[in-house]
Amino acid sequence: MSVADGQAAQIDPHGLERLLYPLHWLVFRDGWRRGRKLLRFAETEADGGRDLARAAELTGDALLRRLYLRHAEDEQRHAELFRRRGRSLLSSLSAPGSSTFEANWLAPGERGLDDLRVDAETDGTLLAFLHLSERAAAERFAVYERVLASDPDTRRVFAEILRDEAFHMNYTHAQLKRVCPSGYKKRLFWARATRLWKGYLRIATALASLIGAVVLLLQYVVLLPLFAWLAKRSALREPAGFVARGEKPASLTGQYG
Ligand SMILES: [Fe+2]
Ligand SMILES: [Fe+2]
Repeated sequence: MSVADGQAAQIDPHGLERLLYPLHWLVFRDGWRRGRKLLRFAETEADGGRDLARAAELTGDALLRRLYLRHAEDEQRHAELFRRRGRSLLSSLSAPGSSTFEANWLAPGERGLDDLRVDAETDGTLLAFLHLSERAAAERFAVYERVLASDPDTRRVFAEILRDEAFHMNYTHAQLKRVCPSGYKKRLFWARATRLWKGYLRIATALASLIGAVVLLLQYVVLLPLFAWLAKRSALREPAGFVARGEKPASLTGQYG
């Protein structure tokens, strides 16, 4: 364990995350949702681990390569911890939950390298992005750990992972300063701006899908019954049976009417 590992317990979620405590508590209250979220977190962690292994292959810096490899191993271990706990939690529940809502936009876990293309980044831009991403993950996990008082086993998993996330957050910052001693603030600024833009896109997409669902629901509940009623009303005015419209009825007595 490095000095940075020991700072894990110091993670304090920022104001907004603290304000959202009640919402996070609601999201994690349901056992089925909690179990499914842990499995989803496992996938994200494993994805992050693969990206970091790729970053280790690409960097020309020997120290960074070692750190990325350790980081990749940590993320794989987190994936395993989440997977194991998620499975054990789900298998301990009796009746399957009815809701499939996971509130991933509110409680996404660790986003890792997200949709960043590792191959296209320099050591500096990658470290800046990683630092912000790890810091956000550490703050989120600190919140999840605090709202999980009713589930000590899951809480322990978050507490264990949180220690690693704090190390990731600290080493990426220290390495960014080493790799870009004069430009690290600029790198952080652009990484923050990119994250904000992606966050905006995520919220806009979630909002668009919500509005789409509401509009479809309104069509189904309001417009469809209205059209059904109009169709029924006009059907009542129609004479029964087959009637050829606009033509004189054919004579039944003569060939030419
Ligand atoms: Fe992680
Ligand atoms: Fe991490």
